[in-house]
Amino acid sequence: MLIKRLEVTGIRNLRSASLNPLSSINVLYGENGAGKTSVLESIHLLSSARSFRSHKLKPLINSEMESCVAFAEIDIPGAGYQPVGVERFKSPATPGIIKIAGQSVKSAAALAENLPVQVISSDTFKLLEGSPSVRRQFLDWGVFHVEHQFHPVWKNTQRCLKQRNSLLRHGRIDDQQLAVWTDEFVGLARQLDGFRAHYFQQLVPVFEQTLARLLGLEGLSLGYYRGWDKDTDLAEVLAANAIREKEQGHTSSGPHRADLKLRYQSASAADILSRGQQKLVVCALRVAQGYLLSQLTGRSCVYLVDDLPAELDKKHRLALCALLEELKCQVFVTCVDHKDIDDCWSEQAAISMFHVEHGVINAKTITTSS
Ligand SMILES: Nc1ncnc2c1ncn2[C@@H]1O[C@H](COP(=O)(O)OP(=O)(O)O)[C@@H](O)[C@H]1O
Ligand SMILES: [Mg+2]
Repeated sequence: MLIKRLEVTGIRNLRSASLNPLSSINVLYGENGAGKTSVLESIHLLSSARSFRSHKLKPLINSEMESCVAFAEIDIPGAGYQPVGVERFKSPATPGIIKIAGQSVKSAAALAENLPVQVISSDTFKLLEGSPSVRRQFLDWGVFHVEHQFHPVWKNTQRCLKQRNSLLRHGRIDDQQLAVWTDEFVGLARQLDGFRAHYFQQLVPVFEQTLARLLGLEGLSLGYYRGWDKDTDLAEVLAANAIREKEQGHTSSGPHRADLKLRYQSASAADILSRGQQKLVVCALRVAQGYLLSQLTGRSCVYLVDDLPAELDKKHRLALCALLEELKCQVFVTCVDHKDIDDCWSEQAAISMFHVEHGVINAKTITTSS
């Protein structure tokens, strides 16, 4: 269990709320607008210093408060349960405060390292139908958590790309200077692609096994596009595009264009699958990442599943809950009526139930009739 206790102040309608005790499976139920998704946003804040719903801070912070705080006791590798807190302010002039085990921390990457979180929400479909950046982020989540060198290489690639693009945007380009940045960019791109390709190779079989548990979808394929032609060196691709790049003022190919391709019956999966099928494919992708994380690092992550029953029939709710339970990850699930998923868990499952009403959270004991 990664999170032992959660306290929230000033996140949307949660003026002051706490969830205690937490279990492996935590079910938050209540009417629309009660504050269930806001609890998931609070946990997300502890893993990235921002919400998964929006990058904007103002709507996240309670309208009558100036800042919001999420606080939890988190199981940190090698250190046991430690206090972790994040405070964000409405005023753009006030930087956020991150504290891990009593120490102030500058980078949100340290939060992500301690608390890997996977979100399955109404934005889920973006992983199939959204822009490539959503899929790159998904892929990079996995690479970040298993390959320590990934983050510095990724950051250097971003910096290098920015420099190269700014040179390309200049009217008179210094070709020698451009060549220096191109060389560095190509070197970093190879490294980044190497990390991503290696991770992807390991993810595919886990994804296929996971999907088979959720959905009989023969013929769904998952492919990786590295951001430039698979048979040509990036240096050659950039050289061939040199004139066009100068006209357009940005780098045409590279790891910033990487993507995952999900195809079903030779069409894009997003165009052909039903909403329920799409949700299950995305769940399989995200659950596969959790499996792989624990296989490769021995660590687990937290799953935030907003409105679990939505789009899913009984059979598929059961399949998804069984999978989440088996993962041995901590799971936070929201639903309007807990009866929709009460009988989806095994008898051994450790479950905490919380009723959310008008921003107030109460721990409940539910006695099922079965
Ligand atoms: N900045 C804010 N300040 C106060 N209340 C807010 C703010 N943002 C949203 N809300 C309210 O908080 C509630 C939280 O909604 P949400 O967590 O999405 O509910 P649920 O997931 O239970 O349907 C809603 O009733 C919404 O109107
Ligand atoms: Mg909600």
